[in-house]
Amino acid sequence: MDGPGGTPINRKHNTHMQAYPDPTRRNFLKASASMLALPLLNPIAGMSLAPSTPNTDTTMMPDTTPATLPTRKLGPLEVSAMGFGCMGMQHVYAPRFSQEEAVKVIRAAYDRGVTFFDTAINYGPFINEQSVGEALAPVRDKVIIATKFGYDYDANGRNIGLNSRPDHIIRMTEQSLKRLRTDHIDLYYQHRVDPQVPIEEVAGTVQDLIQQGKVRYFGLSGAGAATIRRAHAVLPVTAVQNEYSFWTRDPEHEVLPVCEELGIGFVPWGPLGSGYLSGTITPNTVFDQSLDFRAKLPRFTKEAQQHNWKLIGLLQQIGQRVYTTPAQVALAWLMARHPFIVPIPGTSSIKHLEENLNALKVTLTPADMAELESGFARIGVEGPRSLPVVLDNVDIGATLGSSSAGTHGKSPLPVKK
Ligand SMILES: NC(=O)c1ccc[n+]([C@@H]2O[C@H](COP(=O)([O-])OP(=O)(O)OC[C@H]3O[C@@H](n4cnc5c(N)ncnc54)[C@H](OP(=O)(O)O)[C@@H]3O)[C@@H](O)[C@H]2O)c1
Repeated sequence: MDGPGGTPINRKHNTHMQAYPDPTRRNFLKASASMLALPLLNPIAGMSLAPSTPNTDTTMMPDTTPATLPTRKLGPLEVSAMGFGCMGMQHVYAPRFSQEEAVKVIRAAYDRGVTFFDTAINYGPFINEQSVGEALAPVRDKVIIATKFGYDYDANGRNIGLNSRPDHIIRMTEQSLKRLRTDHIDLYYQHRVDPQVPIEEVAGTVQDLIQQGKVRYFGLSGAGAATIRRAHAVLPVTAVQNEYSFWTRDPEHEVLPVCEELGIGFVPWGPLGSGYLSGTITPNTVFDQSLDFRAKLPRFTKEAQQHNWKLIGLLQQIGQRVYTTPAQVALAWLMARHPFIVPIPGTSSIKHLEENLNALKVTLTPADMAELESGFARIGVEGPRSLPVVLDNVDIGATLGSSSAGTHGKSPLPVKK
């Protein structure tokens, strides 16, 4: 079996690989070998690294007993150390999967040991929750389902903006429970901080839902440190979900320290930089203009990619040493940052799913981590992570360059009675 550059892989002697049950238990070595043998080519020369076509081939699905993955704790909640982000199959990326196609991939993730699934009302909207509900109904008591509230929709299902008013949250919860085919949501995040509704009211509403048995744990997404503290004072926050990855460092300033201080788990979304950190996206990759949000992202312009490709070179450099792909190094890097981090990479491809889960076997040494940090500091990243209209919805202190210190965040203070 060959590693990058034809180096023979001797896993027995590779101190970077951990010993625990293989998430796929069969075909992994074969699949990895073919992945690792792919040469990483210069995108500027116009070469792609691996097929990016969604792959729903289920011939590699294991037998009916799910594999076992290591676990991590988000506050008191135990989940597989890597979760599965269900969004991308039916929202913001192209092509969009039917419910039947999405169900297959979600079940493939469960079969490979994933017990933590992430969705939101807004993904689709609605259809992603339906897919998660159908896929996981037969194993409902064995999995943790996280979903998110906080937007409002018109009669045609069009998102018409933020809404975390208590009566709306309650209505949305009933609908989510039906779509998810369950009587409880394990982890219920506010999707974005609502500048019209004090976070204390939101936390109080979720607390009522917990008392009624409809929700188990409370989470926040796109929240800064001041809002997290205020919410946590009313109802313990179990997890914060903000964008975080090797090239998006915003949470390092305030959000990760507050999570560590308060014992809150952190779930990084976009852990693969919307696919870029896998090294499979090049300036020649054509995104669907109407369906794929990356077509409009400043980090995905040809110019930005020419600069940012140096980051892929850095991931590749470490990857060659530990016989892993850039995607696996990017995920192993996240796992190594803090023990309370649980990434939720999303994919429509079972091959990519297996590649991502096998990042759990990679241990980066302190020297690898230091080299990644100094390399990142030297190279930097070109282009904001998202569009201004999207970043505007994120809380104070949750984005690079903003600080919640001395503020109460974007959530208004409760009116004193
Ligand atoms: N709270 C929030 O506001 C928020 C926002 C966005 C996302 N999320 C959650 O976070 C999850 C993950 O985020 P994300 O999907 O935006 O970003 P991501 O996980 O960083 O990237 C997903 C993209 O990477 C590609 N990919 C995945 N594994 C790959 C691999 N091994 N090799 C090559 N390409 C690979 C996927 O394409 P293929 O399908 O071709 O594999 C997809 O285009 C979502 O599913 C969602 O649940 C939350």
